[in-house]
Amino acid sequence: MQALRGTQDILPEDAYKWNYMESAIRRLCSCYGYGEIRTPMFEATELFQRGIGDTTDVVTKEMYTFTDRGGRSITLRPENTASAVRAYLEHKLYGDQQVHKLFYIGSMFRYDRPQAGRYREFHQFGVEVLGADSPAADAEVISLAYTLFQKLGLKDLVLHVNSIGCGKCRPVYRQKLIEYFREREETLCDTCKDRLEKNPLRVLDCKEEGCRAAAAGAPKITDYLCEECQAKFDALKRYLTALGISYELDPQLVRGLDYYTNTAFEIQYTPLGAQSAICGGGRYDGLVEEIGGPHTPSVGFAVGLERLLLALEMQHLIPEPAKPRHVYIAALGEAAVAEGVKIQQALRGEGVRADMDLQGRSLKGQMKQAGRSGADYTVIIGDNELASGSAVVKSMAEGSQENISFEAIPKYIAERETGVQ
Ligand code: HAM
Repeated sequence: MQALRGTQDILPEDAYKWNYMESAIRRLCSCYGYGEIRTPMFEATELFQRGIGDTTDVVTKEMYTFTDRGGRSITLRPENTASAVRAYLEHKLYGDQQVHKLFYIGSMFRYDRPQAGRYREFHQFGVEVLGADSPAADAEVISLAYTLFQKLGLKDLVLHVNSIGCGKCRPVYRQKLIEYFREREETLCDTCKDRLEKNPLRVLDCKEEGCRAAAAGAPKITDYLCEECQAKFDALKRYLTALGISYELDPQLVRGLDYYTNTAFEIQYTPLGAQSAICGGGRYDGLVEEIGGPHTPSVGFAVGLERLLLALEMQHLIPEPAKPRHVYIAALGEAAVAEGVKIQQALRGEGVRADMDLQGRSLKGQMKQAGRSGADYTVIIGDNELASGSAVVKSMAEGSQENISFEAIPKYIAERETGVQ
C-alpha cells in the first residue's frame, strides 16, 4: 500500500521543519492579535458551492465530495475561508460589533494535478479579519504575511496587488471584458470560451497561450474602478508604502475564488515556477452575507506551507533542530536494566534525552548503538556496577570516563556540556 497520489507522509526527519514554520507563525500571529480557529476538515458541500462560487475550478473540478451514510453531500475543505465564516456566523461572533482576527493552520484538499508545489492534500496557514472595512486591515494582513517571510529570512519575494472592484464597478468592467474577448473568441481555449459569459475575469488568469495573448491587451479593471474603490486602493498603496513594503501593481491579477472584492494580492517566489504563489488573498466584503449573515466586510490570505517550505529549503533557511543532551544507558542483566530504567526516568525528568535498548542487544551491541545514536554520554551498568552502586559514565566526545553513583548521575549530566545546538 502506498500513500495516495498528491498526498505525502511527513517523517520525523522533516517534521521539525514544519514545527519551525508553525512556531514562527504562532509567535507572529500572537503579536498581531490573531486568535487561532480550528474548524472541521469536512463541511456541507453547499457551504463551498455558495462561498467559493459555482463556476470556479475549485468547485467544478477539484472538490473531494461524497455522500455520507446519512445521504448528505459532504466535502473535504478545499480552503478555510468559507469554514471560518461559517463558524463566525454559527457562534454569532458578529454579535459584539468587534473586529475578529482569526488564524488557522491545517490540511486542505483539492483534486489538483499533482506536481512540485501542488498536492491533493496540502497545508495552509491563513488569516481572516472579519468586520473591518478599512484598507488599513488589508495593509495589516499583507504586512503580517510579509513580516513572516522576512522573519524567516526569505529573499526575492514579489508582492502583486490589484483591486478587482465592487458590485458597482465590476459589472461595467465585466461587460467590457466580455465584449473584448468575444472579438477574440477564436484564440481562446475551450474552457475560457465556456466561461466567458459566466466568469470573464478568469480568462485573464488562464495559462493557455492563446488566452494569454488575448488577455495581454485586455481592458484593465483599474481603469474602471468607482470612486470609492479607487480611494480604498489608493489608501492601501499609501499604507504599504508607509510600512516599507514594496509591491507591483498587477491589473491582471484575479483570483481563483469568486468571493473577492476590491483588494486582491499574491506573494510570489518565481523560482517555484508554475507554483510560484506562496501566498494569496484579498478582501471579501460579500461572503458573510452570501452565507446568510449580516454585512461584514472582511479580508484575509492563505500561505501554502509546502511551497513556503520549498522556498525555505531552496534558500537554506531552516536551522538544524536544537539537540537536547543525550544519554544512552547500556545495561546488562535484569537487575541492571531495572536500575537503568530508574536512571533513565530521572534523566528524562531533567529534560535530558535518555535511551535504552529495547531489542535485547548484548552489552557490546548496546555500546555500538550508543555510538550510532549520537549520544553525548553512555552510562554503563553491569554486575560490578550493580555491586558498587555506581555506573561508568563515558563522555563520547572525549572518550574519558568516571564512576558516578546512580543517584548522582542526573546532576552529573546536568552540570556537563550541553549537546550540540
Ligand atoms: P488560494 O489562492 O486558493 O486561496 O490558496 C492560497 C495558497 O494555498 C496558494 O497561494 C498556494 O500557496 C496554496 N495552494 C493552493 N492550492 C494548492 C495545492 N493544490 N497544493 C499546494 N498548495 C496549494 C485560498 O485558499 C483562500 N482561502 C485564501 C484567502 C483567505 N483569501 C481570503 N482569506
